[in-house]
Amino acid sequence: MNQPKQRRAPLITFEGIDGSGKTTQIRLMSSWLEQRNFRYRIIREPGGTPISEKIRDLLLDKENKGMDAVCEMFLFSAARAQVTTEIILPALADGIVVICDRYYDSTTAYQGYGRGLDVENLRRVHAMATYNTRPDCTFFLDISIDDAFTRKIHANEKSDRMESAPVAFFQRVRTGYLELARKEPERWTILDASRPPHEIAAIVTAKTEDLLRAYHHDLSEH
Ligand code: TYD
Repeated sequence: MNQPKQRRAPLITFEGIDGSGKTTQIRLMSSWLEQRNFRYRIIREPGGTPISEKIRDLLLDKENKGMDAVCEMFLFSAARAQVTTEIILPALADGIVVICDRYYDSTTAYQGYGRGLDVENLRRVHAMATYNTRPDCTFFLDISIDDAFTRKIHANEKSDRMESAPVAFFQRVRTGYLELARKEPERWTILDASRPPHEIAAIVTAKTEDLLRAYHHDLSEH
């Protein structure tokens, strides 16, 4: 008889264009998890390990103006492979909830829809770079490009290499995200990022609560 496979802890990802409020929602989510004594870990992509952080520096450095789109895609994927094997998979196997500030959907949205790389080809790269790891739940903070840019200006943030792209690029990225969410509605939750943060957080925590309940139910059955 087959041994029942031990279910790994949930992997939750947040996606959205720059300025959509992911950081605020992840902060609210972590205090929610903390209050309930859940073990969790937050990963920011690209990054999360010393090797991935070095790749991040390469990717975001404004000096690297001439970076080819395929080179860019492989660098994001390389950083992901490292953080996946070094941090994400061991944590999930240990029952730790992992929250990723971006994962492979960012590459499909930015390098696929944004830069125009073939989205079908990217699927194979993602499978390799993530060791076939799929998020259980993905929250997409949807915001108009105008609002996102206004938020960035108000926050007085200096733009990095990726953020220096033209408005049309971000329009394509947003369209790409919406397309991805439409294709996989059971995994994606689209959130209106123009709503007050606590309203968005209420939807996020309700969904997360369901996910964690299902996970613990599965564990107790085994
Ligand atoms: P970061 O400062 O982490 O931005 P944010 O706070 O918006 O997440 O920079 C990451 C940038 O890299 C951001 O502009 C999105 C982009 N990106 C890609 O283009 N492809 C990817 O696969 C990932 C993970 C990020």
